Amino acid sequence: MHSKFTKLLLVATMQLSCVVANTEKFNPHAWMAPGEGDVRSPCPGLNTLANHGYLNRSGKNLTITDMLNGALEGFNVGWDAIIQAAKFSLLATNAFTTVDLDSMALHNLIEHDASISRADYGIGNNLIFNETLFETLANANPGVDYYNATSAGVVMKERLAYSLATNPNITNTPKEFLIRLRESALYLSVMGNWATGVAPKNFVQIFFREERLPIEEGWVRSNVTITAETMNDMEDIIDDNTDWNYTQRCEDLVLGPDLII
Ligand code: HEM
Ligand SMILES: *[C@@H]1O[C@H](CO)[C@@H](O)[C@H](O)[C@H]1NC(C)=O
Ligand SMILES: *[C@@H]1O[C@H](CO)[C@@H](O)[C@H](O)[C@H]1NC(C)=O
Ligand SMILES: *[C@@H]1O[C@H](CO)[C@@H](O)[C@H](O)[C@H]1NC(C)=O
Ligand SMILES: *[C@@H]1O[C@H](CO)[C@@H](O)[C@H](O)[C@H]1NC(C)=O
Ligand SMILES: *[C@@H]1O[C@H](CO)[C@@H](O)[C@H](O)[C@H]1NC(C)=O
Ligand SMILES: *[C@@H]1O[C@H](CO)[C@@H](O)[C@H](O)[C@H]1NC(C)=O
Ligand SMILES: *[C@@H]1O[C@H](CO)[C@@H](O)[C@H](O)[C@H]1NC(C)=O
Repeated sequence: MHSKFTKLLLVATMQLSCVVANTEKFNPHAWMAPGEGDVRSPCPGLNTLANHGYLNRSGKNLTITDMLNGALEGFNVGWDAIIQAAKFSLLATNAFTTVDLDSMALHNLIEHDASISRADYGIGNNLIFNETLFETLANANPGVDYYNATSAGVVMKERLAYSLATNPNITNTPKEFLIRLRESALYLSVMGNWATGVAPKNFVQIFFREERLPIEEGWVRSNVTITAETMNDMEDIIDDNTDWNYTQRCEDLVLGPDLII
């Protein structure tokens, strides 16, 4: 009886790994939920790339080049659009040249307060998706089936107002604002039209909630590389709709020899 059950279990397990192997062979970039021991980040972009095998599905031991190449391959996001985040990420860990995705929850490095889909540090879990907080974006731009740069700015404003009202320890300097602005431009550009910033609501919601590319729903990778330049005008419109003020000032932010803001 016991051995029969064990055999059955063995066959079932073999069949399951066969299904997984076949899915992989058929499409190495099929979506798969993270498995036992795999780690994910507070970034829906990197998590989506890992869930589709554009990054090691373990989410561990990633180099800067792995992340830049993964974003280019999976989303057609150019290196320059995410280079600062990529470089910063190495500081989240003591390893010399690699990062694990979960290390990126380190507060105030890249991770910031007033996120779209994660709780503020010290208030809740700043690593995992939070549906309550995500409702602000989910319900944005009522009456139409897309988000755009206007609604993205309004979402940033509402999320910050909530954090200001609930988090006595909020960090809200120009650094956090610039990171948040880029993140908003990224979800619009990657899930929507890179030029107009118009992004179907269902694509954006699947991206955040499931960390999945909505291919079955009709999404296609941008045929134009998304760069800092392609997002420039979009970021201006988002900015205009946030009505943003700093809570604290900060020192000049040194992002590179030609980029001190
Ligand atoms: C090496 C490249 C990247 C690094 C190191 C990185 C890192 C991060 C981190 C640490 C956060 C958390 C910030 C927070 O909400 O507190 C974040 C948020 C975010 N990232 Fe990335 N990211 C990268 C590339 C991308 C790409 C290619 C996309 C494309 C869609 C993306 C989209 C986003 C979005 C939309 C958020 C905001 C999430 C939220 O506010 O809830 N990121 N990223
Ligand atoms: C993915 O990461 C795991 C664990 O670090 C490693 O064993 C495996 O070789 C990596 N796969 C690739 C394709 O790099
Ligand atoms: C991490 O990656 C490096 C280079 O890609 C490799 O030499 C090392 O064995 C990996 N370590 C683990 C724990 O997978
Ligand atoms: C704010 O920070 C202080 C000092 O670190 C800490 O004692 C307090 O618990 C924090 N409060 C919240 C709501 O995070
Ligand atoms: C999600 O956000 C809500 C609203 O701020 C908060 O009450 C809840 O604790 C958060 N959940 C997690 C897991 O952080
Ligand atoms: C975004 O969509 C709303 C609703 O249709 C519209 O009023 C607004 O002008 C749009 N913004 C942009 C930048 O197109
Ligand atoms: C990209 O796709 C759009 C819409 O599908 C099309 O109009 C445009 O010609 C394409 N551009 C290039 C460079 O292939
Ligand atoms: C930012 O400051 C300006 C000038 O004091 C004010 O009019 C505006 O309402 C502030 N924005 C928000 C979101 O509170």
